[in-house]
This record gives sequence, structure tokens and C-alpha cells, in this order.
Amino acid sequence: MRIRELTLRPFRNFAAIRLNFAADYALVFGPNGRGKSNILEAISYLSIGKSVRGAKDTQAVPHDEEFFDIQGQCTDGRHEQQLRVFYSKKEGKKAFADASALPRVSDLLGVFRTVHFSPEDVSLVLRFPAQRRRLLDILISQSSATYLRDLQRYHRVLAQRNHLLRAAKKSDRSRADPQVMEPWDAQLIELGAQLRWHRLDALEKLRAPFRRYYDRFSPADEEADIGYQGARERELDPLRDELREVLERRREQEAQVGHTLNGPHRDDLKFSLNGESAEVYASEGQLKTVLISWKLAEARYMEEQTSRQPVLLLDDVFSELDPGRTGELLNIMDEFDQVIATTPQEPDARQEARFEPINLQK
Ligand SMILES: Nc1ncnc2c1ncn2[C@@H]1O[C@H](COP(=O)(O)OP(=O)(O)OP(=O)(O)O)[C@@H](O)[C@H]1O
Ligand SMILES: [Mg+2]
Repeated sequence: MRIRELTLRPFRNFAAIRLNFAADYALVFGPNGRGKSNILEAISYLSIGKSVRGAKDTQAVPHDEEFFDIQGQCTDGRHEQQLRVFYSKKEGKKAFADASALPRVSDLLGVFRTVHFSPEDVSLVLRFPAQRRRLLDILISQSSATYLRDLQRYHRVLAQRNHLLRAAKKSDRSRADPQVMEPWDAQLIELGAQLRWHRLDALEKLRAPFRRYYDRFSPADEEADIGYQGARERELDPLRDELREVLERRREQEAQVGHTLNGPHRDDLKFSLNGESAEVYASEGQLKTVLISWKLAEARYMEEQTSRQPVLLLDDVFSELDPGRTGELLNIMDEFDQVIATTPQEPDARQEARFEPINLQK
């Protein structure tokens, strides 16, 4: 995958800008607040149809405008496509491929794949379970259309089920009406098992490259690992049984609290360093290395799943890394087809040797 040209007219702080990514390795640089992160966010809009930072679409509309418009010339090695995401406060969001409107914005997923790293994620992802789940969901959705569909359906079922549980709680019943719950339970079990199976499968495939990348960055006595928390089982049928069993066991408790207590929406992805929880014990630089290794492993996973390499979008990736880790990262980048990175500093000699600089000061 590659992006050759990006046009924002407008997007966030850009009234109109066109960037060319003629080289495969580009380093966007410029002072703080100049819009470097916004550019990477815009590129990933073309790949996931929404803000990779979790911002609402309206927040990406320039303050004095009614809409944003992102266009990019993207290729997967075979087909070149003009992708476009347009959002206006009045009309909502639309996605286009080669000028024809896609039925849904989510149809963009999988057309142009990216992996996005940002330093904000280091604290977010490593501190909040919801962000870690989001990490997995965005990754798997880009390589499996079924996963995305199941995820959307799961959340609708979950909302319905929670609605019924809240009603039971209000009316002081010890459990919700089993006949009313049954169809929702059945769907929750089926979709929940599918989602867990996909996540476990993805983690299993990510684990080896993740550990290998972390190894390359760190001294020999540091070992990182990942694990999934929430499901004991690994195969689909046992995963269904497990979910059903927990639902049965916690019926009364769920009516007391008024929401669904178990399922993929509550599971967690755990990062560890030398067997200890990374978010609790790791240093800033180590945490950053954990997330970079994860992102590189994500790229390898997507490549394996789709036989196409995603574009790496690395926001401010060099800060806080020691010279050894920076050097290794530069070496690793060579193994990818396209990398777009940002830095608030003037590019140094090592960076200049590898990247085409894109100066945002002008
Ligand atoms: N909707 C918007 N409309 C106009 N300007 C916006 C909007 N959203 C963000 N901005 C502006 O964009 C700028 C931030 O851009 P961005 O985060 O991309 O900067 P950056 O170059 O990555 O900076 P840093 O080096 O600090 O990471 C800020 O000045 C902010 O006010
Ligand atoms: Mg930034």
C-alpha cells in the first residue's frame, strides 16, 4: 500500500494543502502546533473512515468552516484509487472511491490500510482497557470485514440487552424476563464468541513478531509479552459455552447493576515486561517501545492476513527513545514499503539519509 498525494481542502488547521509523497519514506517536520499530527490523522481517515485519535468528526472541521474534505491518491500495488472522505455538519459523512460514493463509510475499511502510532497512545492505550480493546478492534476490522460487521452488531445487541437490564433494575425485579432476554442472550453469545475468537487468533499471530521487535530494541534482559484477559477458552464452541455459562451465573447480579457484565466489551489486552504489568512498572521509554513493537507487529499481521503491507504512520516516534533504539527503529523502517513520520525537530543526519523531508514551516 502507498499514498502518493494528499489534499486537505479543508481539514482542521489547514484551509488548503496538497502534499506529495513521491519518496517511500517521508519525514514531516515543523514547529509544535503546525499540523503534523493532523496530517497523519487525515491520512488514516482515508483508511478507517474516522479519527484515529477518537475525535468526533465535527472536531476535525476547521473552526470557521462547515465541512472537511480529505482526498488521497492511494494504491495497493495493483489499483490506484482516489479516496475521499467528506464530512459536513449538515449532510454528515460520505466516502468515495474514484468519485463514486460508497454505500457506507465503513466500506472504506480494507481498501487502503494504515498502522498509526502516536505518543498520546502510549499513555492512553497502556492505561485504559477501552483503548486497548480499540487497538485490537481497529486492527482486526482492517483485515476482516466479518469482524467489523460482528462488532457493530454486537454493540447493538449489547445496547438492547442493557436497556432491558436497566428496566429490570428500575422495577426492582431480581432478574429480567427470561423470555424477553432469550433472543438477545443468544445473539450476544454467538457474536461475543466470534469476536473473542478473532481477537485471540489475532493475538496469537501478533505475539511472535511483537516479541521479536521488542527484542531488537531492548537489552537482552528485557522481555515483553502480551496476553488476553476475559476468556479462558480458545475455540469457538467452548467460547460459546463459556459465555452462556457466565450469563446464567450472573443473571441476578446483572439485574442489580442494570448492565451486561461479561463479554468482549469487558475483556482486556495485557502488556507485560519481564512478567510484570507494563502499565504499572515500565518506564516511559520502555512503554513507548512496547507500543512501537506492537504497531510494527500489527503491520506484519495485516500483511500476513491480506498479503499487502499497510502504510506506517509514525507520529513523533523518535522523541524519548535513546540513540540505540532510534537507530534500530530507522533500520526496521527499511523493511516497510512506505513510512510517513513526523518530528518537531529539524531532521538530523541519520534521518536525512533515509527520509525525504517535508517542511511544514513554509
Ligand atoms: N478543528 C480545528 N480547526 C482549526 N484548527 C484546529 C482544529 N483542530 C485542531 N486545530 C489546530 O491544529 C493545531 C494542532 O495541530 P497538530 O496537533 O497536528 O500539531 P503538531 O504539528 O502535531 O504539533 P506537535 O509538534 O505539538 O505535536 C493546533 O494549533 C490546533 O489549534
Ligand atoms: Mg503532534
